[in-house]
Amino acid sequence: MSDLSHIDLNNVPEHVAIIMDGNGRWAKSHGEDRLFGHSKGVEAVRETLKTATELKIKYLTLYAFSTENWNRPQKEVEGLMNLLVHSLSNEVDEMNQNGVRLQAIGNIKGLPEDCQDSLQNAIEKTKANKEITLVLALNYSSKWEITEMVKTISKKLTKNDITENDITDELISKNLTTRGIPDPELLIRTSGERRVSNFLLWQIAYTEFVFLDIFWPDFGRKQFVGAVYDFQNRERRFGMVSEQINIIE
Ligand code: FPP
Repeated sequence: MSDLSHIDLNNVPEHVAIIMDGNGRWAKSHGEDRLFGHSKGVEAVRETLKTATELKIKYLTLYAFSTENWNRPQKEVEGLMNLLVHSLSNEVDEMNQNGVRLQAIGNIKGLPEDCQDSLQNAIEKTKANKEITLVLALNYSSKWEITEMVKTISKKLTKNDITENDITDELISKNLTTRGIPDPELLIRTSGERRVSNFLLWQIAYTEFVFLDIFWPDFGRKQFVGAVYDFQNRERRFGMVSEQINIIE
């Protein structure tokens, strides 16, 4: 499915999160090395962003580097960081032309300095853009994010800035690195794995999942539109029964 005739553009998810998985296996299946797979992954990122803009999705979050990814061979980690630095500097002009605002979530201070610099530069240069927000999860781990939130809220309690009754769903959300970003309605994972892998654990409470049996470099416009179509044909009940949903609609 690549044309948009089956898509209700008034009912697209506001926020789509993607676990881009399978670059390494894609490379292996093509007799290439893993870094070649990651470069192909960047091409898929570019097409995904273009499609998200076309679909009028307002937030696109991509799991680009998890805290656990530091355990990979040093050559691969360095290659991924270089790819990120180069992609960011190459893409800033195009992001501006297409109204893309860049944001990052995760432990950004733990990234190499050149990576932090190019990230800050791209965030600064695109901050006024309004079409879509591209959120890169970098050095991200949901358990890290939740641990940091608990520490921040504990400090506020100790200093008597808040009381126990002030600890609400909203306060927790405001103290995560995703503050200000709506929760994703749709989470897509490629490569056939059916796991969440420490990604947005708090934020996916009501998220619909689409798992695709293709490697990330093979994810393109057709697959993205198909996933949104799948999403639009599900009934989201938020704990209610069908009849209640139909009354609300
Ligand atoms: C998963 O494939 C992919 C990653 C860990 C990195 C994703 C990074 C990119 C697509 C490139 C950089 C991103 C941007 C936004 C410029 P894998 O290596 O885990 O594949 P495997 O499971 O087959 O080994």
